[in-house]
Amino acid sequence: MIQEVRSLVTPLTLGTVQLGMAYGIANQKGKPDMETGHKILKSAAELGVTTWDTSRHYGVSEEVIGNFLKNNTSYSPYVISKFKWSDRALENEKLAKQEALAQVRTSLQALGQDQLPILLYHTDKDQDIRRVISILPGVCRLLREEGLIKAGGISLYYPKDVAAILEEPEIAAVQLPINVFDQRLVANKAMDELADVGKLVFARSVFLQGLFFLTEDKLPSSLKGVAYYIDELKKLADRAEMTVAQFAFSYVRDIRGVSSIVFGADNVEQVKQNVQLWNGKSIPDEIRENAHKIFGNIDERIITPGLWKS
Ligand SMILES: NC(=O)c1ccc[n+]([C@@H]2O[C@H](COP(=O)([O-])OP(=O)(O)OC[C@H]3O[C@@H](n4cnc5c(N)ncnc54)[C@H](OP(=O)(O)O)[C@@H]3O)[C@@H](O)[C@H]2O)c1
Repeated sequence: MIQEVRSLVTPLTLGTVQLGMAYGIANQKGKPDMETGHKILKSAAELGVTTWDTSRHYGVSEEVIGNFLKNNTSYSPYVISKFKWSDRALENEKLAKQEALAQVRTSLQALGQDQLPILLYHTDKDQDIRRVISILPGVCRLLREEGLIKAGGISLYYPKDVAAILEEPEIAAVQLPINVFDQRLVANKAMDELADVGKLVFARSVFLQGLFFLTEDKLPSSLKGVAYYIDELKKLADRAEMTVAQFAFSYVRDIRGVSSIVFGADNVEQVKQNVQLWNGKSIPDEIRENAHKIFGNIDERIITPGLWKS
């Protein structure tokens, strides 16, 4: 089952939170309008980025995608969506099943699809995921048997949570933040472990929401400390004769275990640029080593968007 799913996932996945709500630390323009959203989806599909990531909790993202697909029937992307549980559902397995079934059906209706290739549980940043992981496999199995999904998985925030899913075959896919400033999953060998057990790994936050592109005067006061690292990133990218975007992208692309990079884009130009970045050169080993030394120990409050003060 997972092999069939894996064979259809493209190496790049279009993240679509940006299409459903105002998102991103560098975002000046808010949410793109429906027409721009459709242009972004069309350009992704035409450039071969046919895996799209959405969620019931990304504002109108699923509706934008559903609307696009209704009016553009020649495209058949692979749409991954996510659901959440209420606190009550986490204490009551029967309710957990009901909530999952209801949300998946709502997602399918909004997307105009009969089945989701992959459904992820959308973890909240403060959630104790042990309880989630104790009930998620059974619910994924049920949704699979009902024909509503092909495979289940989870979207995580913290590297420490990876260990809990390694031995769960029903949790076939995982989405995680990983980028040149956040090397925890590489340092603690979690990426190798995920690769060894054959999990489908979606790497998000490759640009840390766009933080890498901010100049010092645009940084919020709580993140002023990051200016030093952004400057060091520019210096390393210069030495590698790459743009910062290429450096950030190549860094994640070349990590063992990454099945697909989930990138966000606010406009068509960024989609095109990011597809080019996928084909860009690798970071020379010596400069990659330097990146490990310089960025290997950055404060969690900088590398975790969920902990940024707005
Ligand atoms: N819990 C979860 O499951 C979860 C959480 C977060 C995100 N996600 C998924 O991951 C996707 C990506 O989000 P992310 O936070 O990981 O964002 P990201 O890809 O690290 O950054 C995206 C932002 O970077 C900027 N950007 C994109 N391409 C660029 C380029 N070539 N040059 C310069 N700037 C560029 C854009 O912002 P500006 O143009 O505004 O600067 C864009 O909104 C989301 O759409 C969503 O699908 C999932």
